[in-house]
Amino acid sequence: MINDRLALLRDYPFRRLSALLNGLAPPSGVPPIVMSIGEPRHAYPRFVTEILTREAESWGKYPPTPGTASFRAAVGDWLARRYRLADGVLDPDRQVLPVAGTREALFALALAVVPPDKAGRRPAVLIPDPFYQVYSGAAVMAGAEPVYLPTTAESGFLPDFDAVPEQVLARTALVYLCSPANPQGTIADLDYLRALVGRARDHDFVLAADECYSEIYDRSPPPGVVEACAGLGDDMAHVIAFHSLSKRSSVPGLRSGFVVGGADLIGHFARLRMYTGGVTPLPVLAAAEALWRDEIHVEENRNLYRAKFDIAEQMLAGRAGFYRPPGGFYLWLDVGDGEAAARRLWTEAGVKVMPGAYLSREGAAAPGRAYIRVALVPDRDTTADAVDRMAAVL
Ligand SMILES: Cc1ncc(COP(=O)(O)O)c(C=O)c1O
Repeated sequence: MINDRLALLRDYPFRRLSALLNGLAPPSGVPPIVMSIGEPRHAYPRFVTEILTREAESWGKYPPTPGTASFRAAVGDWLARRYRLADGVLDPDRQVLPVAGTREALFALALAVVPPDKAGRRPAVLIPDPFYQVYSGAAVMAGAEPVYLPTTAESGFLPDFDAVPEQVLARTALVYLCSPANPQGTIADLDYLRALVGRARDHDFVLAADECYSEIYDRSPPPGVVEACAGLGDDMAHVIAFHSLSKRSSVPGLRSGFVVGGADLIGHFARLRMYTGGVTPLPVLAAAEALWRDEIHVEENRNLYRAKFDIAEQMLAGRAGFYRPPGGFYLWLDVGDGEAAARRLWTEAGVKVMPGAYLSREGAAAPGRAYIRVALVPDRDTTADAVDRMAAVL
């Protein structure tokens, strides 16, 4: 007895890539370099280990779903600093929840907000295409129809909400937005965010802003929905943002992030989370608190990515539609046929990259098909080696 919806989940991109490269090998004597997965590999701050050890006694306790008051305060202070919020704009005790990495929370949110029907019809969940796979899985498992909005070079790599028909907006329950975007690195500006918040309120849907790359940027810090809502002189009704330590602090294994949103929405989400159980252990909350209070390691992290983008720019400028993204840590290269390029880069250069098709919806019109995504996550020298080898093939 299995939920039929499971059969609608596509194979995860990494499985599809393994199938594509099955039986193929890098040239002999060439050490393989994996850049297909967005797993940060910079060193994480050592104080994390110290805090986990110091707090070890509390592995013996069940963590509360809303986390600790001091964790929520650290997050509230970070949000106020990061988005220049006036005092009292946010109430962390009512608007912030810890999450065990944003992935589980992005998924669970759909279960909390997608109703059985909307405007008498099957609810829609709007998803940028290409997209982080969890958005579509969440929509499907919540019983909604995933509606993909193409994000192409022509549309500035952001979904065009003006192009969404009114009938679709009327039955939209949830919209996922990713800024900085995975894979393209695009940053939505404040006007774009404000307009989308307005739409969420007018059409009564929830805006889920995936901002897990918000701290990995090239020049200026990306705006966020917290800031957009504050600028509207309103609380965060209909809006929820997802923030993670995985990319910011290079601790994907810690499984720690938070959500911040309208107090009502956060209350409903907290109620669901009592059942789904996405709690954060107390020692992890203590380490996370210290990480959100420290910016030195984050600036070092950003500088390392900038140095790697410098290298990529030197070696790839003018090739495969290279551009330097304003945010995130991916190259998004237009190679004509992403699957063919991924196979060649593996067999001729020993570099593993992700075909854009696996990050897009199915079908010949999928906007990712012509691209490859390259995660600049290895150390500087390894990245330089990889980009050099890629330049030779491309
Ligand atoms: C766009 C996007 N959202 C969310 C996540 C999930 O990150 P985490 O669960 O580590 O916070 C990722 C991870 O790669 C991602 O690329």
